[in-house]
Amino acid sequence: MLIEQLKAQQVLPVLVIETIEQAAPLAELLLKYQLNCIEITLRTRSALQVLNYLARQYPELIIGAGTVLNVEQFDQVQQAGASFAISPGATEPLLAKAARSEMTFIPGVMTASETMQAQGYGFKLQKLFPAQVAGGVELLKAFSGPFSELLFCPTGGVNPNNMADYLALNNVAVVGGTWLAPLAQIQAGNWQQIESNFASLQGQLTV
Ligand code: 3PG
Repeated sequence: MLIEQLKAQQVLPVLVIETIEQAAPLAELLLKYQLNCIEITLRTRSALQVLNYLARQYPELIIGAGTVLNVEQFDQVQQAGASFAISPGATEPLLAKAARSEMTFIPGVMTASETMQAQGYGFKLQKLFPAQVAGGVELLKAFSGPFSELLFCPTGGVNPNNMADYLALNNVAVVGGTWLAPLAQIQAGNWQQIESNFASLQGQLTV
């Protein structure tokens, strides 16, 4: 089950990939470091193509499509081979569409009302975005009272310095972030640096 895989991985790499040429070496490294669950953002013109390529060539990857902003994109990422979809927010049409779909959806929230609305549609794993700006660890502690059944994936401003504080919370399933493979390092093809980011992660994770 996806949630168990995310919990085990603890960190969900959020990736902005512009070309297939960038996708292949990155996929090899992700698999080498057992970072099988990833988020590919729909922030580049070729994002759907990259998603489709990775889904076909690297079936061991569990690919989430991120930055899914509307129902059209929800359909597009499903067709491209995404295993799940993530959004920075949660509009009513997107929640309704995703609730009827077989594809797992992780809606984005940052307030109690948004959390309640997404919960109303049955979504028990939600993305807190932008996590640090929204209130970070303290917000999640406060949410654990009224929303005791929910789990969160804080993303946005999570980094190696605050990651452990998030992961120590009972209502955090996984944290997301771009720091493991930042766009500039992907663009530069700096695979050595990205590999070193992945390698350092092992020592930063809670057991
Ligand atoms: C996202 O799309 O989830 C965020 O932009 C990731 O935020 P970060 O760059 O602060 O990790």
